[in-house]
Amino acid sequence: MAQQGIILVAKEEVHSFIVRCIVGAGAELSHAECLADNLVLADCRGHTTHGLLRTALYVKDLKHDIAKGSGVPIILKETPAIALVDGNNLLGPVVGRFCMDVAIRKAQETGIGFVTARGSNHFGIAGAYSLQAMKKGFLGISMTNASPALMPTRAKKMFFGTNPISVAAPAVNGDNFVLDMATSAVSLGKVQVCKLKGEDMPDGWGVDKTGQDTTDPSEVLDDGGLHPLGGREITSGYKGYGLAMMVEILCGILSGANYGPNIRHWTSTDQIANVGHCFIAINTSAFESGFEERMTDLIDTCRNLETVEPGETVLIPGDRARAHYEKVEKSGAIEYNAEAIRQLDVLAKELGVPMICTMKQI
Ligand SMILES: *[C@@H]1O[C@H](CO)[C@@H](O)[C@H](O)[C@H]1NC(C)=O
Repeated sequence: MAQQGIILVAKEEVHSFIVRCIVGAGAELSHAECLADNLVLADCRGHTTHGLLRTALYVKDLKHDIAKGSGVPIILKETPAIALVDGNNLLGPVVGRFCMDVAIRKAQETGIGFVTARGSNHFGIAGAYSLQAMKKGFLGISMTNASPALMPTRAKKMFFGTNPISVAAPAVNGDNFVLDMATSAVSLGKVQVCKLKGEDMPDGWGVDKTGQDTTDPSEVLDDGGLHPLGGREITSGYKGYGLAMMVEILCGILSGANYGPNIRHWTSTDQIANVGHCFIAINTSAFESGFEERMTDLIDTCRNLETVEPGETVLIPGDRARAHYEKVEKSGAIEYNAEAIRQLDVLAKELGVPMICTMKQI
């Protein structure tokens, strides 16, 4: 019987729980902390499908020795603006942070840094890396390929991952544009959440293993798949499919990582993932000056557009996530599904680490 309700956990406890699980699974402390930073950021920004609840996935990779918990990424090739990195099969966030640091360093020297990585694993939310560049004043871009989950328009079989794209652009006074989106209709995490809650999915998210549309999350997870962004062909799903392939080219093909259906199934542990990422940092001053001021003008004008429904506001990509982040900062706690927390307690027991300490049940 699934547990109902919402449980609150202090933000610091979420971080330390992830760290003790990942260290318990054999990783170095600094690697566990890097992963925890990414997952906590996801939860703080409201991407709850990519946060704490993903801990088990990384534990599984470490336990099966299919991802490494110690070591360093290696720069294989570089020019003043470009680097190719071998992630050395380390945890994705360790590879991602390293690569964006390299891109930032190159952007400081030349105006742009463009880094691709292979030999990596799930890197968490793409937004973590575009934000990493933006916090240093750069325009940041990050993308990754992933295990097959998406049916190309007209295809019966999963071929591409949810291949996300994130672009973060600074405006003045800490305002910004932060796009962070999958190129599938939804992320697999959202499907898992529906399953966890025992709910049907909205129409147009995914298909079953015969390629027929379904609203049952279990059918999507059982060898079915996701529609590309845009859904079916009639609603322009081929545009999402095109974007997914673009991400694949920039991540998998450029770097020499696995690509498309060569990437292992996302739950399998019989081979290394060898996924590819792409990170770009751009010094906007290399172009016309006043980028941040024009950004502010653009986003404020957009936000102030008259809405169809009175009392609503036009949002800028990232506004919702920022509001969620501020809410968490203020309360110091993050909300989770009670059943998900119960599953994490099982994980803690298996690893022999202290269970997650919760605040209260609503
Ligand atoms: C971008 O380049 C300009 C001009 O060279 C420099 O003044 C500025 O510090 C650079 N920006 C960042 C974020 O490094």
